[in-house]
Amino acid sequence: MRKVLFLGAVALLATNGLALADGPNPIEIRQTGLDLMSGTFAGIRAVAAAKGDVKTLEAPAKAIQRFAALMPGLFPKGSDTGGNTKALPAVWSDAAGFAKAAATLGETAGKLAELAKAGDAEGVDAQIKLVGAACGACHKDYRAK
Ligand code: HEC
Repeated sequence: MRKVLFLGAVALLATNGLALADGPNPIEIRQTGLDLMSGTFAGIRAVAAAKGDVKTLEAPAKAIQRFAALMPGLFPKGSDTGGNTKALPAVWSDAAGFAKAAATLGETAGKLAELAKAGDAEGVDAQIKLVGAACGACHKDYRAK
């Protein structure tokens, strides 16, 4: 009986391991999300540059804020290899700094959403620069060229 239970547990563990291994590659997941976020941010900049309706920028700014909150979890241990990643080892060796950089993006994007909601076009222009700076600051320390 004991032996059967033990074998059952081993089989369960093996199946779980397999399920994880079969899931989407975490490197692909985060790179896809980053591409989507990049397109979202480009769209925000284009609307602001064209003096479009900044109120429409609240939702995409919030999406960036939400993605920023997910970012630390998109770099699980072990995902430094096994794909075409440009993440530097510092993502894992300085996880606190990386989380802080993601939080800065979240804060700046959240503020952008507020300014957009208020229809403050000048504020939006200035805040877009801070969001861009938050992207650049993290890339400088945590992404390979
Ligand atoms: C907290 C750190 C951090 C922040 C903030 C950040 N990035 Fe990145 N970004 C990375 C890292 C690390 C990679 C490399 C990921 C990989 O290749 O596994 C990356 C990769 C990318 C890529 C390439 C994705 C691909 O297809 O390989 C794009 C595009 C990108 N970031 C855009 C942005 C934009 C736009 C912002 C701001 C709105 C931003 N990032 C903010 C860390 C960050």
